[in-house]
Amino acid sequence: MIVLGIETSCDETSAAVLENEKVLSNVIFSQIKTHRAYGGVVPEIAAREHLAKLPLVIDEAMRTAGVKMSGLDGVAVTYGPGLAGALIAGVSYAKSISFSLGIPLIGVNHLEAHLLSPFIEYPGIKFPYLGLVISGGHTNMYLARGLGDYKLIGSTRDDAAGEAFDKAAKMLGLQYPGGPSIAKAALKGDPSKINFPQAQMKDKSNDFSFSGLKTAVLYYIERNKNKLESGEITVNDIAAAFQKAVARSISNKLSRIYGEYGIKTVVLSGGVAANTYLKDEIKKFTDSKGIFFYTPSMKLCTDNAAMIAYTGYRHLKSGIKTGVDIDVDPELKVAVR
Ligand code: KG4
Ligand code: ZN
Repeated sequence: MIVLGIETSCDETSAAVLENEKVLSNVIFSQIKTHRAYGGVVPEIAAREHLAKLPLVIDEAMRTAGVKMSGLDGVAVTYGPGLAGALIAGVSYAKSISFSLGIPLIGVNHLEAHLLSPFIEYPGIKFPYLGLVISGGHTNMYLARGLGDYKLIGSTRDDAAGEAFDKAAKMLGLQYPGGPSIAKAALKGDPSKINFPQAQMKDKSNDFSFSGLKTAVLYYIERNKNKLESGEITVNDIAAAFQKAVARSISNKLSRIYGEYGIKTVVLSGGVAANTYLKDEIKKFTDSKGIFFYTPSMKLCTDNAAMIAYTGYRHLKSGIKTGVDIDVDPELKVAVR
């Protein structure tokens, strides 16, 4: 079965071709350079860029895969959550391909795709597992019990972790997107110089809250201008301390939930899963408990169409169908049974 995947939910225009579970191509055009001038993603510009780049990206994905349009068995596309205009660009394109070739259209939930993305490289992962989807728009913890059977057991009450990285980077004068900038700066910083508060809820729930941490960074910068000017404290130190606080919050939460749900496997995905410090923190925890830990390689962590095609393929194989009348859903949640 050969499936074309299309992803346009935010600022990456991506197309991928999969033959069963094997990735034949995964082309990603990042709009980061365009949005950087504005310090964040501009929805209207994102939608236009997707429309302009989709034909080229799809063409390249098909050529790299060595597959003709007539060889496709289905087209999978992200229909939510994400930016409305950006999603419409991808869904309209996918609909026209599905209609003109007479092949099934599979609407894919972007969050489910992140959740399943580690299967592409580690097909042996066994349900149930604890799935952490940590990206620019989401900080969700799911108990994944089977394909299409996910229970949300915790999320953020305010900012997503990636959003916190992006906002903290802005305060520190580091370029957008903040995650990679902070990770890079943190390599040269000393995380022990500052103790930022953890992103935990006071009520001991399984939820996160990153807005307090964000405010703490802001106040720290304002109150320590002298130390920053004298070089006693550097932007790199603040970045390192911030990154440590985010990673600790997540690994501490994991250690609480672990006991409650008897977890044997942890799966980390989403853009923030590209963060090496976070991965190491989680690995330290899972190693100490003797549980399995899987996370995709960098290209499959951040937004990409391979995970969309993969999720579409799994749906198609298990007979889950989407109508051609599918509409975008910017607020789409992962189905809870
Ligand atoms: O999954 P993704 O590509 O898009 C969404 O679905 O949101 O995630 C993008 C987010 C951004 O907030 C970006 O700053 C963050 O992932 N990110 C990172 C790193 N690379 C990307 N955060 C921390 N460390 C990184 N190395
Ligand atoms: Zn994403």
